[in-house]
Amino acid sequence: MGDTPYPLRTVTDDELDHFFRMISRAFGEDVRPEEIALDRLTAEAGRTLAAFDGDEMVGTAGAFTFDLAVPGGRLPAAGVTYVGVSPTHRRRGVLTSMMQRQLADIHERGEPVAVLWASEAAIYGRYGYGLASRRMDVEIDRTQTAVRRDLPVDESVEVRLVAPADMQDAVEAIERAVVDERPGQFVRDARWVETALADLESRRHGRSAMQGVLATRGGRPAGYATYSTKASAVRGHAIADGDIAVIAQRALDPAADLAVTRLLLSLDLMRRVRWWNQPLDSAIPHVLTDPRQARSIITDGLHARVVDVPAALSGRRYARPVDVAVAVTDDRCPWNAGTWRLVADGDGVADCERTDAAADVALDVEALGAAYLGGTPLTALAAAGRVSTTNPLRLNDLSVAFGWSRLPWCPVIF
Ligand SMILES: CC(C)(COP(=O)(O)OP(=O)(O)OC[C@H]1O[C@@H](n2cnc3c(N)ncnc32)[C@H](O)[C@@H]1OP(=O)(O)O)[C@@H](O)C(=O)NCCC(=O)NCCS
Repeated sequence: MGDTPYPLRTVTDDELDHFFRMISRAFGEDVRPEEIALDRLTAEAGRTLAAFDGDEMVGTAGAFTFDLAVPGGRLPAAGVTYVGVSPTHRRRGVLTSMMQRQLADIHERGEPVAVLWASEAAIYGRYGYGLASRRMDVEIDRTQTAVRRDLPVDESVEVRLVAPADMQDAVEAIERAVVDERPGQFVRDARWVETALADLESRRHGRSAMQGVLATRGGRPAGYATYSTKASAVRGHAIADGDIAVIAQRALDPAADLAVTRLLLSLDLMRRVRWWNQPLDSAIPHVLTDPRQARSIITDGLHARVVDVPAALSGRRYARPVDVAVAVTDDRCPWNAGTWRLVADGDGVADCERTDAAADVALDVEALGAAYLGGTPLTALAAAGRVSTTNPLRLNDLSVAFGWSRLPWCPVIF
């Protein structure tokens, strides 16, 4: 498992530019020095892996060190990234060797969970990553709907346009304050905020420069959005037909969020407003007079991998008490395999230990990863034949216990 003639090692800081160029090639993209400079901000050379054919780098992988929100808490986690294999060396097991080595490294570091965004959703299940969250792109034609008039206006919130470069501190403060609201988010320090506010020409694709909206209450940051616009007109008719792409929108409370939404929906000459990465339980359809006008496309979001079953299962909280024996299969991380007794009390605080008891529920580690952040019901996985049980009522209870008040979502595609 994971055997390959291409030796693996981490790359040095000096080799990072070459490492990033290799990834751009694997993705079929241009190599852009300004993108590489930005990638370097958050890169952790010590967590990279590269595969070599002689002197030639033919495969890359890496990880970020995350403080990840999980239901009711936070855990150290690996944010898997930089995965690519040279077109000349594909389907020879290079990826498998990197994933296998990386899982061992993550386990050794004591990170109970790993998460990633997949370029193609079929790639990572074989390594135990399950579909744990989904994202929704939402588009509104603002000639067809508006913000409901019965929603209150908070006069204490002031909204103004601010250059993104001047919002760094406010954005960092807001992002840090909201990280525990939703599983799947990770703590973003100044480097990550700088990355999010960077307005690279190569990313504009004919759109305007990034614009910023800042909501404050009593002079303190309470919410923000970044967006870009594309002005246009219906051909031959001079009817305004522009659109707004919302890059990010976050707030400390619903009133500040609504103030930002109202501003975004009030920009003259812009017909459509598009949010490109929203949680499935986004507020957007619910603030509109016509929720059907929130046209949505849903795709996969974070894929999660449980790397240490007892640490991961006892490191989150549960929505209701449980006492259940769960049999887990895991070919790649044999330390996870076996039957685990999960006991959660009335506060949702859990303990997880090995047991000899007969299992109530059986699943593989990919299904466990899918359910782990509370976004994929175990009952849905059971309906797909991927979770089995000797006791359907117990499974129902466990499925509710794994759920959470907010759906998991990650605002950053890393
Ligand atoms: C995806 C990619 C990294 C796979 O690398 P690779 O070295 O060819 O993969 P391996 O040879 O180790 O293949 C392992 C298994 O995954 C399967 N697989 C690989 N790529 C796949 C894909 N895109 N879709 C579905 N299955 C895939 C292989 O068929 C093989 O299956 P098997 O174990 O049942 O035989 C490589 O094709 C690539 O660089 N693609 C472009 C960049 C990219 O998408 N990177 C991922 C970023 S999230």
